[in-house]
Amino acid sequence: MIPYGRQTIDDEDIQAVVDVLRGDWLTQGPAIERFEDAVRDFVGARHAVAYANGTAALHGACAAAQLGEGDVVATSPLSFVASANCARYVGADVALVDIDPATLNLDPTAVPADIDALVAVHFAGLPVDLSALEHRPRFVIEDAAQALGAFTPDGPVGNCARSDMTCFSFHPVKPVTTAEGGVVTTNDDELAERLRRFRTHGVHRPDTDERWYYEVIETGFNYRLTDMQAALGASQMRKLDEFMARRREIAARYDEELQGLALTTAPRPPDGFGHGYHLYPIRVADRRGLYDGLRDRGIAPQVHYVPIHHHPIYASDEWELPECDAAYAGILSLPIFPLLTDEDQRVVIQAIQELVGPAS
Ligand SMILES: Cc1ncc(COP(=O)(O)O)c(C=O)c1O
Repeated sequence: MIPYGRQTIDDEDIQAVVDVLRGDWLTQGPAIERFEDAVRDFVGARHAVAYANGTAALHGACAAAQLGEGDVVATSPLSFVASANCARYVGADVALVDIDPATLNLDPTAVPADIDALVAVHFAGLPVDLSALEHRPRFVIEDAAQALGAFTPDGPVGNCARSDMTCFSFHPVKPVTTAEGGVVTTNDDELAERLRRFRTHGVHRPDTDERWYYEVIETGFNYRLTDMQAALGASQMRKLDEFMARRREIAARYDEELQGLALTTAPRPPDGFGHGYHLYPIRVADRRGLYDGLRDRGIAPQVHYVPIHHHPIYASDEWELPECDAAYAGILSLPIFPLLTDEDQRVVIQAIQELVGPAS
């Protein structure tokens, strides 16, 4: 099967993990700082705080923002459920803002004025244009789980030029991987301190000559990343530019060779924006036929996503999200990952040409 996404691991990555296994620290050792520094320097933020996974990073961001009961957190319905769950983890309510079909991102001009925080999901790796927000809520958290390597006219996603915090995921299909892993970046010293405390049980170490002493000052979690994972991440970060170049090359070939077919190619980045191409989502009338036809030919596309409000835990009569529902009816993510060969991409394109046919 040709999958829609997969990791790229080389001998250097393997050696980096083995080196940690032979060393003294398996968790919270020197590799954590190396990994955090690599992400921080790549995106140009003041702080990067590593977490156990992207979901934990989003939870940490909502906790560091001190969101809670009575607060409303808006996000996109066309996302993985973690983008909304992070609000519920801290007791806040979720509001879903319909998408702009041109970007498949939440429509920044439709974000209501009366929300407390926004979790802005950069769907597929295409950054939400935060400069188009008409109201800036108390907190803006970027869910950049899919967007490491993407950029906006303000610079790399993660520099928090128009947000308080940015959360990344390092799951295997993401731009770089630590198997499971997450990072929150921020330019705010206080938020960074709260993020670090929250990932380690709420532990605070006061300035005292009793060097064993620590105290727990809030209910935190064990959301730590291991040193093995951080070493893998630090090694992978060195290849991010190369990975991005290959993803963009694959996307450009789809853009070109799928033209003229009865489908809509993936949204292109506006001027000044750089797409991370974590996904290449097309829209097609007979999605079921294309999905089954590709699977029968040894190709495994995926549907991103079953919208958040379609899940029983978010189901409610109050949602009116017609653009998201229309997108969900036809959306399909095609294979895109650095190790996809030209020949495999040709096979995918040829299968789509046969299954979809020309635009009428
Ligand atoms: C948009 C989005 N947010 C959050 C997450 C959660 O990340 P993780 O799987 O690392 O917990 C994902 C990953 O699937 C994602 O795609």
